[in-house]
Amino acid sequence: PQVCWLSPEQTAGKQKPYMYTQGQAVLNRSFFPCFDTPSVKFTYSATVKVPEGFMAVMSATSWEKQKDNTFVFKMSQPIPSYLIALVVGDIVSADVGPRSRVWAEPCLIEAAKKEYDGVIEEFLVVGEKLFGPYVWGRYDILFMPPSFPFGGMENPCLTFVTPCLLAGDRSLVDVIIHEISHSWFGNLVTNATWGEFWLNEGFTMYAQRRISTEVYGLPYTCLEAATGRALLRQHMDATGEDHPLNKLRVVIEPGFCLFLGVNPDDTYNETPYEKGYCFVSYLAHLVGNQSKFDAFLQAYVNRFKFQSITADDTLGFFLEYFPELKEKGVDSIPGFEFDRWLNTPGWPPYLPDLSPGQQLMRPADELAELWAADGLNMEAIEAVDITGWRTYQLVYFLDQVLQKSPLPEGNVKRLSKMYPKISASQNAELRLRWCQIVLKNNLEAEYSKVKDFLHSQGKQKYTLPLYRAMWGGSEATRALAMETFSATAPQLHVNVQNYVKKILGL
Ligand code: BES
Ligand code: ZN
Repeated sequence: PQVCWLSPEQTAGKQKPYMYTQGQAVLNRSFFPCFDTPSVKFTYSATVKVPEGFMAVMSATSWEKQKDNTFVFKMSQPIPSYLIALVVGDIVSADVGPRSRVWAEPCLIEAAKKEYDGVIEEFLVVGEKLFGPYVWGRYDILFMPPSFPFGGMENPCLTFVTPCLLAGDRSLVDVIIHEISHSWFGNLVTNATWGEFWLNEGFTMYAQRRISTEVYGLPYTCLEAATGRALLRQHMDATGEDHPLNKLRVVIEPGFCLFLGVNPDDTYNETPYEKGYCFVSYLAHLVGNQSKFDAFLQAYVNRFKFQSITADDTLGFFLEYFPELKEKGVDSIPGFEFDRWLNTPGWPPYLPDLSPGQQLMRPADELAELWAADGLNMEAIEAVDITGWRTYQLVYFLDQVLQKSPLPEGNVKRLSKMYPKISASQNAELRLRWCQIVLKNNLEAEYSKVKDFLHSQGKQKYTLPLYRAMWGGSEATRALAMETFSATAPQLHVNVQNYVKKILGL
C-alpha cells in the first residue's frame, strides 16, 4: 500500500506515469525494511535509478544526479521511518526563495511558482525566531497529483502538498505554514508512539497559528482557528463526545503481524489537531505571557530535538521549566487536570479566546442568520457586500449555513444564484462546504458539483465527509455515491478507497 503507481491519465499532464510514496503512519514497512515506529530515528541514504526523462526527489538534506539517470540522496539528520518519501515523475522546479523551490509537473509549474513566490522565506524566518534554528537546510514544496490523500505531508526538506492549494490567490497558505511548523514539532521533537499523535499535530497547530499571528495578525488567525473549532464540533457531533478517540492520548491496541491490532491510520480524526491545540493554548494561558510561553516552546524543542517523546516528557518539562506553576499544582486544577486532558474523552475543558476574530466573523454570522430565516429579508441580505470577503470568511459563513441546514425550502437555491463567487468557486475549501450544503439541503440541481469535485481530487478530508453525507441522505444521493465511487475508485489512494468502501458498506 505504500508505493502508489499512477498511470499517465492520473497525472496533471497525462503524458507520463508517476510514482510516489506516503509513509505516515505505518506504511513505509512495505517500502523498505525498517523499525517502522516513530520512536526510532536514523539517517539514511538512497540510490535511485529512473528511466530517461524522469526525475527522482526524496526527503533528504543532499541530492545529486549522477550518470545513467541515477540519483543519490542523503539525509544527514536522524529522522523516524515515516518521514522517508520518494517521488519519481516528470517534474521540474522553480525557485521561490533563497532556500526554497516548488516542484511540479511542467504544466503546473507556472501556477505553483506564482502561488508561493517570495512568501515562503518569511514563514521560515518567523518560525526560526519563535522556535529556534531550521535544521533541515532546504524547504521545498512538491505539488502532487490530484489523488494525493492529504492537504500536506511534512516530509523533511520537501513538503508534499495537494494541487488543490493552487487557488491562485494564496488563500490556502495555512497548509504550508502548518507543514513548515512540523519542522520543529513532529520532525525534530517526535511523538514516540502514534497514540501520542497530538504531540505532533496539536503543537503544530499551535505553532502554525503563532506564525500566522505574526505574519497575518490576530483577527485573521482567530478566524482560521474558528473554522478549525467548527471541524472539531462536527467531528464530536458525529462520533459522540465521549468516543474513546476523543481524548488526546489514544490507546492503539498493539498488533501482531499485519492482521491483529489497530492500524493507527484508522484513528485519524480532528481531536489530536484541535483539542491538542486547545491544550497547548491552555498551557500558554497558565503561563499568562506570550513571550514567556514562546521561550518555553523554544527550550522544549532544544531539549528534545532529534528525540521521540511522550506527553509525560512534555508536561514534566513544562512543570520543570515553570517551577512556580508546579508549586501551584496547575496539573491538578479541578476540571482541567492534565490527566483529564490526556485520558478523558470530550469537548476541550478550555477554549482559547477567539474574539479578536469577531470583526471578521460577526458579518458572516449575521449573514448566515439572515439566510436561515423563514421568509427571506432580501433587502437586508442585499445590503451585505461579500465581494471583499477573504476565503476563510466565506468558509466560516458556509460552516454556519451548514450547521443551520436544512434551510427553509428554496433558500439554498436562492443563495446559490446570489453568490456565484461561492457556488461556482474553484477553491477546494469552498467547494467542500458548498457540496456539503447541497447534499444536506437535497439541492438536486447541483448534485453534479459533488460528482465533479470528487472526480477532480482525492484528498481524504474532502472525500470522506462527502461520502458520509451522501450515504446518510436520500436514495438519490446514495445512488450518486455509488456511481461516483465506481468511476473514481481506481484513482484514490488505497487507504481512502478502503475508508469509502466502509462508509458504503462494500
Ligand atoms: N502529518 C499530517 C498528515 C498525515 C497525518 C498523514 C496522519 C498521514 C497520517 C499533515 O501535517 C497534516 O496534518 N496535514 C493536514 C494539514 C492541515 C491541518 C493544515 C491535512 O492534510 O489536511
Ligand atoms: Zn500536521
